[in-house]
Amino acid sequence: MTIDCKNMNQSAAFSAIPFFCLLFLVSFGNSQLDYKYYDATCPNLAKIVRYGVWSAIANETRLAASLLRLHFHDCFVNGCEGSILLDASSNFTGEKNAFPNRNSARGFEVIDAIKDNVEKACPSIVSCTDILTLASRDAVFLAGGPFWPVPLGRRDGLTATETAANTNLPSPFEPLENITAKFISKGLDVKDVVVLSGAHTIGFAQCSTFKQRLFNFDGAGNPDPILDASLLGSLRNMCPNQDDSDSKLAPLDAATSSKFDSSYFNSLVNNSGLLQSDQALMSDNKTAALVSLYSKLPFLFSKDFGKSMVKMSNIGILTGQNGEIRKNCRLVN
Ligand code: HEM
Repeated sequence: MTIDCKNMNQSAAFSAIPFFCLLFLVSFGNSQLDYKYYDATCPNLAKIVRYGVWSAIANETRLAASLLRLHFHDCFVNGCEGSILLDASSNFTGEKNAFPNRNSARGFEVIDAIKDNVEKACPSIVSCTDILTLASRDAVFLAGGPFWPVPLGRRDGLTATETAANTNLPSPFEPLENITAKFISKGLDVKDVVVLSGAHTIGFAQCSTFKQRLFNFDGAGNPDPILDASLLGSLRNMCPNQDDSDSKLAPLDAATSSKFDSSYFNSLVNNSGLLQSDQALMSDNKTAALVSLYSKLPFLFSKDFGKSMVKMSNIGILTGQNGEIRKNCRLVN
């Protein structure tokens, strides 16, 4: 495939076009999707999305992380088709109330605001799913991470499934083998598990998602023996051993929680992963070797993150006549 990266609308608006752009185009194009899909029908799409993400992050830095996670939680539940964005209706319960999303998934208003602006510029042309895909890419870039071109043309699904969200999304309490199996069932691989876990370089987790590591890991009142002692002390301060601390927040990557960098991997090497599932990447030879590699080679992590994101963004997509272009991301037309 020969596409001129410099003429691509979405990347042109960013001044720095990474040289590995071409590599992505050659290696990771999806024949059903097209980098120029909206160039004729919605030429300002990239700018509208970027402005929406930029202004959201300017208001609250954490929204970069929240948008990235929203895209992941969309793609792992019946594919990237915007199901997570749907409110509950008389036909389905919706995914927002599923256990991994309830009081946790956030950033919906950012997508609504972008969609409103996109609808004003080009009504009924751009799917909510493509907006979320672009927004998560822009969020990573604006948080200091890599940029990668996103092929477009996904359509929006017509339903959402709470049970699928409960079963398909990985839990921080399940063993690495189960998490890996969930990724493999989506067409991803072990390397993608490690690379995409690097998303935890930004954002926050509620104490309830890791508190059992701090006070009673073994049922006999002891903490997780792997957890670094000084991190244990500071996490116990943030999350006292009482129920009302459950929704308090701790940074997933304490060193640089708002910067998309590779220090998450350094933390794992230093037994300072926040979630049990993060630190578990050091418990298997293959994943530990990758963690060690990315901790030493930040550029390799940046490059591989873009590749794995493009793979994730292609899971179970709807194209052609399937699905629809929603007018309101929260409702089926
Ligand atoms: C590998 C299995 C994974 C598990 C078990 C997991 C679990 C979690 C948990 C428990 C939280 C905290 C949620 C809360 O307390 O409200 C979280 C946050 C987050 N996750 Fe993951 N995650 C995984 C993979 C991923 C992937 C693949 C991505 C994206 C590519 C991702 C992106 C994020 C981000 C950015 C946050 C912070 C969100 C915010 O601050 O709003 N995670 N994850």
